Amino acid sequence: MLSVARLCSKNLTRQLITNVSLTTQRNFCNVVKKPISLTGLLKCPITSIGQISGCLRKSGTLALNYSSAVNKKTNKIVGSWLLVCSGMVFVAVALGGVTRLTESGLSMVTWRLLGEKMPVSDGQWIEEFEKYKQYPEYKIMNKEMTLEEFKRIWWMEYAHRMWGRLIGIVYGVPALYFWYNGMLKKGMKMRVLILGSLIGAQGLMGWYMVKSGLEDRFQGPNDVPRVSQYRLAAHLGLALTLYTGFLYNALGYLIPSKQLPLDWFNKENINHELLNGLVRFKRMIYCTKGLVLLTALSGAFVAGLDAGLIYNSFPLMADKFIPDDILAFSPMLRNFTENPTTVQFDHRILGISTLTLITLMAWKSRGLALPGRGSRAMATLLCAGYFQVVLGITTLISYVPVHLAATHQSGSMLVLGAATWLCHELKYIRKIPK
Ligand code: HEM
Repeated sequence: MLSVARLCSKNLTRQLITNVSLTTQRNFCNVVKKPISLTGLLKCPITSIGQISGCLRKSGTLALNYSSAVNKKTNKIVGSWLLVCSGMVFVAVALGGVTRLTESGLSMVTWRLLGEKMPVSDGQWIEEFEKYKQYPEYKIMNKEMTLEEFKRIWWMEYAHRMWGRLIGIVYGVPALYFWYNGMLKKGMKMRVLILGSLIGAQGLMGWYMVKSGLEDRFQGPNDVPRVSQYRLAAHLGLALTLYTGFLYNALGYLIPSKQLPLDWFNKENINHELLNGLVRFKRMIYCTKGLVLLTALSGAFVAGLDAGLIYNSFPLMADKFIPDDILAFSPMLRNFTENPTTVQFDHRILGISTLTLITLMAWKSRGLALPGRGSRAMATLLCAGYFQVVLGITTLISYVPVHLAATHQSGSMLVLGAATWLCHELKYIRKIPK
């Protein structure tokens, strides 16, 4: 970044200041160099200082944002790394879904931070199977299980855990390299630390969740050994946070959001009506993103309680809009997290409300000139939303087959990804101070 201190706007030609960005210092990606004088800047051929892409007026200082070929390359490398990490989290969530749906998650009864020992000989496999036999899932549900069947569920859980560790390496090693070579944008170092800590927390949360399924608390005749739905929701919530965190930052590096071509120095030209519409639209997309996340978390409660195996009809639940046992548990609040009927009902309502909001946004966006790739992001969100709801209904009415339920779970990341992309495109829309 070239910072031109105390440079008054009059000194700049009109062409230089027409594309004023509604931005903050965070937007400036390049290494801060010594301030140079205006004459120095003007003598410098435009090709060697890079392309001037915007001006920032901030506390009496004008700063010119330019990106050189070197910085473009750096941004591409860092952005691609973050995109790969978000893709790997996507795969981890999909793998986790299949692990849960194939009832493989409780096959490994120990956990080690750096990886469990893989049985290689027949003796080691038998020893591992014997350990599994001490726990409720085998005692209550799998008494007939053979060693071969055990190996299958063990491999599934092992793949999920090792994939999580691979994410840690693919994230951690380049993060150190980029950090020490000054390749991270200002403000990015803190995010890198937060995302790294979340990966660690996710590993611990995974084991904390599995432990809840190994406890000796399934005593009732109808009790099915399964992990706590609260911990499952926390595990999924953390995964979705990591996924959106990686994706949002990757987009910032790879396809920077477009700045509005507004002339700050001639405020009368600004179309306030259009801008206010865009500001309202931006608020809506943040609400939608929150609602998608909430719907996904409520989906984790449906999955955790096997609530998709009751009331397998839509839109009615046993011929009623509101089923009789919706508030059967006491105290009343327990119903929202422990009563399968209420949990499924809430998930339906949240899913349909999310889709309604997305449809409303798509309709509103027609009259607004969304900046950058905003329209494409909106269309993707609309398609992903409809796809997800149709898939959810199909999963329910066909009694939760593994392939549909796993696709429905991954579909939630497509919806969330599209919402994140739209948020990114609208990043620089701000209300203009009067
Ligand atoms: C935007 C809308 C929706 C989103 C984002 C969403 C998200 C999710 C997620 C993330 C899960 C799985 C959680 C996990 O496995 O840990 C899930 C489960 C489920 N969802 Fe949805 N859902 C939506 C709409 C719907 C609708 C409208 C229905 C049906 C009426 C539905 C039915 C189900 C069922 C039956 C399950 C349980 C599947 C299982 O046991 O694995 N979903 N949902």
